[in-house]
Amino acid sequence: MIKLGDNMKKKKLKRKFKIIFTLIIMLIVLLLIIVPKQTEEHKGKENTKVEEKNKYEKISYYRKENLDRYKEYEKENKNLSLEEIITNVNIGLDNPYYTNTLPSTNLNTNLILVNKYNYLTEDYVPENLENIQTTYARSGMQLVKEAKEAFEELSESAKKDGMNVIAMSSYRSYDYQVNLYNNYVAEDGKEAADKYSARPGYSEHQTGLAVDVYNLDLPYTSFEETEEFNWMQENAYKYGFILRFPEDKVDITGYQYESWHYRYVGKEVAKEIKDKNLTLEEYLAKKVEN
Ligand code: DAL
Ligand code: ZN
Repeated sequence: MIKLGDNMKKKKLKRKFKIIFTLIIMLIVLLLIIVPKQTEEHKGKENTKVEEKNKYEKISYYRKENLDRYKEYEKENKNLSLEEIITNVNIGLDNPYYTNTLPSTNLNTNLILVNKYNYLTEDYVPENLENIQTTYARSGMQLVKEAKEAFEELSESAKKDGMNVIAMSSYRSYDYQVNLYNNYVAEDGKEAADKYSARPGYSEHQTGLAVDVYNLDLPYTSFEETEEFNWMQENAYKYGFILRFPEDKVDITGYQYESWHYRYVGKEVAKEIKDKNLTLEEYLAKKVEN
């Protein structure tokens, strides 16, 4: 009886051992199948990441710190080219106007950028402001010395061709812009005013490098209808000025078309901007930052 009992126990033990052994083998087999698969998937994901990164890196003005924003912006703008995605994100256009704003850099240089993402502080007054001679401007108009001299040359040259290109608004202080903007808002409401007027601190008139012109006959808002406008289209760049808010770039500049508003950037940059049909935003966004 005792022996019989021992044999049964041994058999039971053997069975248990077989079951455990089979389970261990199955587990090993499972691990051998699953682990390499997961590693491959992981590698795949890593490769896609590298591919995406490399895709953006191919563009010379790719900025490493904007990588995640490029990806997000591309998801929402599948119709845009890679160049456009990188340019627009570098400008800030992946955020609504007046969000993620930064203080303007390059103060007191020809390439200072002031727009709906870059602002000047209340106390910023450009260095070297000078009055434009009243032959070429309404009285009391000021620009930064270099821009003022270039504008006087431009206006003189227009005069020799029988045209009047006259400054009717140029440097505007922060406080002046406060009044101007508030009046526009009172007249038209904030949404409409934001389409044609900069908020205080966001107007490039505060740089002393921007000028609104008219031809003495028609109001400045009709400048496009004048022969002086055609003259400016042909010649402004030769004096370092660009048309700042072109008709086909409203989504980039954030402002409606202004045929009267010109910005001094210097001769070389003005020529490049004109030749390549860029805005100042695009020109700067395409610059390689070192
Ligand atoms: N009208 C331009 C955008 C300004 O207010 O500066
Ligand atoms: Zn203007």
